Amino acid sequence: MPAIVRIVDLVKNYYLGAQTVHVLKGLNLAFDEGDFVALMGPSGSGKSTLLNILGCLDRPTSGQYYLGEVDVSEMSDDQLSEVRSTYLGFIFQSYNLLPQYTVVENIELPLLYQGVKLNEATKARCIALAELVGLGERLDHRPLQLSGGQQQRVAIARSLVNDPHLILGDEPTGNLDTKTSIEIMQMLRQLNQSGKTIIMVTHENDIAAWARRVVRLRDGRVESDVRNDTRTIVELGR
Ligand SMILES: Nc1ncnc2c1ncn2[C@@H]1O[C@H](COP(=O)(O)OP(=O)(O)OP(=O)(O)O)[C@@H](O)[C@H]1O
Ligand SMILES: [Mg+2]
Repeated sequence: MPAIVRIVDLVKNYYLGAQTVHVLKGLNLAFDEGDFVALMGPSGSGKSTLLNILGCLDRPTSGQYYLGEVDVSEMSDDQLSEVRSTYLGFIFQSYNLLPQYTVVENIELPLLYQGVKLNEATKARCIALAELVGLGERLDHRPLQLSGGQQQRVAIARSLVNDPHLILGDEPTGNLDTKTSIEIMQMLRQLNQSGKTIIMVTHENDIAAWARRVVRLRDGRVESDVRNDTRTIVELGR
């Protein structure tokens, strides 16, 4: 399996006046196509910082980031936004839906940002995605008319609209109760089984147990990197 993501000596500093905050202190990691990775570690250990760099929302201070064969650390802002909209899907803890838009319109948003002309075909695709995440009966609802779990399903459908290679989640179950979290994780597992690569930040061991591999950060370094064995995954398959 080729590595879909590879980072080499990745360093991220933040500069606050005269102070330098060393957040990522030289990370080396490779993630295979088709993998399902949980990124864990204490608060402040750099998980979101790393995910934002992997999502081309931020740049490393030094080091390389290869997405497939391409070194994205060398790209211009325009190229980065092109990569974001064609290669990557994002799911956040707070769903990030637009309240005035319906389910279908929220799913369409990345296409709109990309300058794709919306038509019957794009609409049909968004409706199919809403159906895929179990919201076929809620197409015209607005976010406030949906439960948290349903809102996160919309966000998952939205993350799929560009058929991304890589889905990045920052605590996608962070605002959800246990039962709803399990539903969301079942959905992510299905997406992974259908071939999507997923990298997801979580604080919770129960959630990380759904992943195939768990990488823990501490103080800006990789503290451990463990593959969940198959038996455990089946047992937790509920
Ligand atoms: N824009 C910024 N400017 C300065 N420092 C920052 C900035 N963003 C993050 N940091 C610092 O970088 C460190 C890592 O932050 P990050 O958000 O990556 O942590 P995290 O592991 O995601 O934590 P949490 O589990 O609380 O979400 C923290 O010490 C934080 O204060
Ligand atoms: Mg974070």
